[in-house]
Amino acid sequence: MEKGLIIAIDGPAASGKSTTAQLLAKKLGYLYIDTGAMYRACALKAKKLGIDINDEESIRNLLDFIDIQIENDNSKNRILLDGEDVSEDIRADDISSLASAISAIPAVRYKMVELQRKMGEKGSVILDGRDIGTFVFPDAEVKFFLTASPEIRAKRRWLELQQKGIDKDFSEVLADLVKRDNNDSQRALAPLKKAEDAIEIDTSNMTIEEQTETLYKIILSKLEEECKCS
Ligand code: DC
Repeated sequence: MEKGLIIAIDGPAASGKSTTAQLLAKKLGYLYIDTGAMYRACALKAKKLGIDINDEESIRNLLDFIDIQIENDNSKNRILLDGEDVSEDIRADDISSLASAISAIPAVRYKMVELQRKMGEKGSVILDGRDIGTFVFPDAEVKFFLTASPEIRAKRRWLELQQKGIDKDFSEVLADLVKRDNNDSQRALAPLKKAEDAIEIDTSNMTIEEQTETLYKIILSKLEEECKCS
């Protein structure tokens, strides 16, 4: 086999995509790309400049002078926005909904998808997001679609917030998550959707370790299959 696989992991918010993708990238020696972080960086830039997320023209102009870099550090992504490390800032609660809104703007998607394709085209890469298997890399060799019930996903997000010392009502966390899933699945361009050839895995009753192991076994059998064919 000339190049390693392109592995796509899509799914709704808090379905365990990024933790699993990071662990898999480490086990396989692959590059990990958190595509959600790129939309979050765009949203952070708009917020810093005081641009209304619905002001499409100003957002389009912002794209001409945005610099987003992803550095890999032990399979963790460090996100640089115009040279500044914003890995923590992009995780702020308000940035989640702003990222969802900005990601529906076609010009934003085209710019981010171009960057993602450039970073991933050489293979040996795992990307997580909403449209990797359907739009960014429709020919990816392995595609997963991770799901879990909204209540379980909201509980994971709520626990994360608690650990950061942020006290938010569980019902509010659940409502925000459902709203974001709806926005992400209903936008016109490259919505959140399972690719027809993606393997769907319900992680509701799985630990991160079980989830990672399940995906890892599938990837290994794909790698063996490719070896036999080439
Ligand atoms: O994965 P995340 O929660 O960090 O993503 C934040 C938002 O970015 C998500 O609500 C929708 C958008 N997104 C997207 O539209 N396409 C992707 N490939 C990844 C994220």
